[in-house]
Amino acid sequence: MDTLRNYINSIRRDFANRPLDESSVPADPYYLFERWFDEAVGAQVLDPYAMIIATAGLDGQPTSRVVYMRDISKSGLVFYTNFESNKGKNLIENPKASALFFWGDLDRQIRVEGRVVKADDELSDAYFSKRPRESQIGAWASAQSSVLLSRAELEQKVEQLTREFEGKDIPRPPFWGGFLLMPDSFEFWQGRPSRLHDRILFTKAGEAWQTSRLSP
Ligand SMILES: Cc1cc2nc3c(=O)[nH]c(=O)nc-3n(C[C@H](O)[C@H](O)[C@H](O)COP(=O)(O)O)c2cc1C
Repeated sequence: MDTLRNYINSIRRDFANRPLDESSVPADPYYLFERWFDEAVGAQVLDPYAMIIATAGLDGQPTSRVVYMRDISKSGLVFYTNFESNKGKNLIENPKASALFFWGDLDRQIRVEGRVVKADDELSDAYFSKRPRESQIGAWASAQSSVLLSRAELEQKVEQLTREFEGKDIPRPPFWGGFLLMPDSFEFWQGRPSRLHDRILFTKAGEAWQTSRLSP
């Protein structure tokens, strides 16, 4: 642990000077999200669509994990998962989440917060039907977040399901599908030198968005 502790105590980097100022901020946060996302793709950020989703159930304990954003529209951000997983249970108890994109190569993070609902069945069906067959079987085989006795248990389940579904289309499991995060705020964070970062917060005001600048 000492090497690790020494390292994190000594390492310090400054951020590039890439400003985020009000004059370049559109009225609609989705446009800024799209612009930053394109720049993340251009900068070859690994998995720019990966986001950290934080949830808390009724006990109030926050839990976070990475998921892939698989759709975005004016309705919100969609990710796919097992509804009976820990996050699924959290979101049924307390349908609110915070999503975080961290694009370190660009000194950027975007935080999105809002209410969560299950995505329409048609959307989940359409996405599921396009997944590779192995991933479809994987969704059926994994009671996500439950305890396994061994890896072999999971692999046997996959073999059994592969036999059962042979020659057939694989339907979407009823316990698997999309969640839609409907943002009521977006915060865009741009690292700047000397810790004087730019933070622009968008909060929903009816159909429009209000912007404010936050202290770094
Ligand atoms: C890069 C990456 C992408 C992931 N994408 C997903 C995803 O789209 N959906 C999902 O359910 N889990 C995904 N996971 C796994 C989750 O982080 C997590 O382990 C799993 O969903 C169980 O979380 P839970 O027990 O909090 O419900 C991903 C993990 C990583 C590292």
